[in-house]
Amino acid sequence: MLSNLPLFPQQASTVAKEVDALFYFLMGVSAFFAVLIAILLIFFSVRYRRRSATDRPHAIEGALHLELLWTIIPFGITMIMFVWSASIYIKLQRPPDNAIQVFVVGKQWMWKLQHIEGQREINELHVPTGRPVKLTMTSEDVIHSFYVPAFRIKQDVLPGRYTTTWFEAIKPGTYHLFCTEYCGTQHSGMIGSVIVMEPAEFATWLSGGAKQSLASAGETLFQQLGCTSCHLDQGTGRGPVLTGLLGRQVQLTNGTTIVADETYVRESILNPQAKIVAGYQPIMPTFKGLVSEEQLLQLIAYIKAKGAVGGDAAAAGGAVPQGG
Ligand code: CUA
Repeated sequence: MLSNLPLFPQQASTVAKEVDALFYFLMGVSAFFAVLIAILLIFFSVRYRRRSATDRPHAIEGALHLELLWTIIPFGITMIMFVWSASIYIKLQRPPDNAIQVFVVGKQWMWKLQHIEGQREINELHVPTGRPVKLTMTSEDVIHSFYVPAFRIKQDVLPGRYTTTWFEAIKPGTYHLFCTEYCGTQHSGMIGSVIVMEPAEFATWLSGGAKQSLASAGETLFQQLGCTSCHLDQGTGRGPVLTGLLGRQVQLTNGTTIVADETYVRESILNPQAKIVAGYQPIMPTFKGLVSEEQLLQLIAYIKAKGAVGGDAAAAGGAVPQGG
């Protein structure tokens, strides 16, 4: 029934109200000026119509007050829009530190999701209420876009790099998940649902089924692929120490310094020659075609977990791997 169709999606996340308030403001300003301009258009057409064949308008030299007014007021209004929307945008770009991590891989035409604890889902995402959830996303093929209207979040998912977004659900329920970037024939079928549960219910769901956490799946892979033969923990290996790597400054052979983030680790696995750590030889083979996007995320989760165990001191000191 058309009468059952809601005009707006539910407000099911903490930012939903803020995004809507901004949207109503933009709509209000637009409606106000649309009506004002329409009324003035009609009024002026009548008031200043040509009354006879010899009618000539008076020349106007300019009106400083009027010109200042119609410059300053729109400037003020657009600055309000800019600051307001930028503050929401920045908030959505910065997941809180206590966020739960979920990894998302888009492919033609499905969403594959992995939880840190090891639970894997397709086209479904289970999350608890009252906890921020950070999504780290990439694509196996073309550009997709992760869109949950009820949460008011939308983020492009790109091949070859990681993008992130976050939300905090406030109401249990099932919400639409859409792909909102045209990605081929079945784009319209690339849909799913986000299932928001009470925290206790979610804990039960999370504990059922997962055999292996993401990090330990990554550790298994790390050994299977032979990474352990070069990346030793003591810094005596042919490859850099990976403990405490993520978030750390890394000095490269070309003299530049970068912060080792997820995208850097991913690139170093697929294209090891791109950025060589200072003091090391370019001897690492590529793993392109040998590991899937999901496995890359597992490897990254493992390297991250290594940092959490004993890497705090190294991370705090900003130490660069020595040796080689
Ligand atoms: Cu994926 Cu549209």
